[in-house]
Amino acid sequence: MNETTPPSVSASSPSPAPAGGTLGVAVVGLGATTSTLLAGLSLIRQGKNEAVGSLTEMGEIDGVAIRDIVSLAELADLEFMAWDPYATNALEAARHARVLEGPMLDLVADDLAAVVARPAAFDQSWVSRLENTDNVISADTKMEQAEALIADLEDFKSRCDRVVVLWSASTEAYRPTSAAHLSPAAFELGLKENDPMIAPSQIYAYAAIRAGVGYINGSPNVSSEVPALLELADLNQVPLVGKDYKTGQTLMKTIVAPGIRSRRLGINGWFSTNILGNRDGEVLDDPENFRSKEVTKLGVLEDLLKPEEHPELYGDISHMVRINYYPPKGDDKEGWDQIDLFGWLGYPMQLKINFLCRDSILAAPVMLDLILFTDLAARAGLSGIQDWLSFYVKEPLVPAGSTPIHALADQEAMLFDALTEMRSA
Ligand SMILES: NC(=O)c1ccc[n+]([C@@H]2O[C@H](COP(=O)([O-])OP(=O)(O)OC[C@H]3O[C@@H](n4cnc5c(N)ncnc54)[C@H](O)[C@@H]3O)[C@@H](O)[C@H]2O)c1
Repeated sequence: MNETTPPSVSASSPSPAPAGGTLGVAVVGLGATTSTLLAGLSLIRQGKNEAVGSLTEMGEIDGVAIRDIVSLAELADLEFMAWDPYATNALEAARHARVLEGPMLDLVADDLAAVVARPAAFDQSWVSRLENTDNVISADTKMEQAEALIADLEDFKSRCDRVVVLWSASTEAYRPTSAAHLSPAAFELGLKENDPMIAPSQIYAYAAIRAGVGYINGSPNVSSEVPALLELADLNQVPLVGKDYKTGQTLMKTIVAPGIRSRRLGINGWFSTNILGNRDGEVLDDPENFRSKEVTKLGVLEDLLKPEEHPELYGDISHMVRINYYPPKGDDKEGWDQIDLFGWLGYPMQLKINFLCRDSILAAPVMLDLILFTDLAARAGLSGIQDWLSFYVKEPLVPAGSTPIHALADQEAMLFDALTEMRSA
């Protein structure tokens, strides 16, 4: 590893309890990513597909399957519930998202129709493009919303052996940390007084922590990483994971940029643009929501290239990221990267990447692995930020004083080290 921060898992890494029984997955957001995950799991359980892209199902370390190194929940033992501000179910969500072909959907229709959206903690001021919602918790205060979510989780816990919460809902508007986020007492007062700076995703994170279950943030929202929730997660011994699934363009960036740096080639420009036409793209079309995404996408390159070590190579880079909502594309995102680099004697060169990817097809195995590994963390007694899962996210949350690791190969090494430390006895 050429980056230096050790994974925090080494601080305590007791042998995890075995993963027997059912694992309940409470998903926030019943949209493209969630319905694609559920459809894939149904097909895999039926023996009609393989879990392509998932390390928990297909990965090995030194020739030994990861499932034989650590005890992980079986796919047959996963139970799902979901919240969404639209009265929908996973089948309707999959049809709306148009990720999967019709015949494939027919095979999973019953399983998907069974996952019906529970009323959501929702506030349109955070996601302006979502209008006419019809499935929102009716409550006077944010604290009452949180209590309703906790009641849902307690009910789910009574039906499952263990539970994790996964935020796979829309990207919220970017708003920085405020006074209400600084301590548990301030946060709880803010919930009671409807502080406008407390986001719905923070209400879900609070509910998960109060219910004593792990919380994963698949979006770029500022969510569980505020001081109040970090403190509560430590008190309640809850693992936190985030944030923003690393799937398309940023995945490529964290593969290509370390290679260019390894050869000490210079870079003076990196322009990334995307077109996509799903609801995520529509939500991100609002500049306030795009700002959240931009923050997670822009930080990556600087952390990877470490311009402070080589200002002559990486000290003056124009780095731009654009996302354009273009409805005909649907979920089939197309990303272009124009990289302006230079070599010996300063001669300029160009590298162009055109990634014709499928957003939710890339996200689903990431979601699966995050769910199973967060459950593993909980069984191992790990709480607070789980940076050993940085492999899966665009903007890894790290404990105070640590530097995030972005290069995919380094993240993989950190993941494998952590799993090896948690090896089942
Ligand atoms: N698909 C990818 O490759 C990818 C990659 C990185 C991050 N993400 C992030 O994952 C998230 C989900 O993406 P998607 O493609 O499934 O989006 P989507 O728009 O298809 O679905 C999101 C769902 O969340 C619901 N929602 C919004 N606010 C909610 C709330 N407060 N409570 C409950 N539900 C709420 C919406 O109604 C919608 O059904 C987004 O934040 C996206 O940026 C996706």
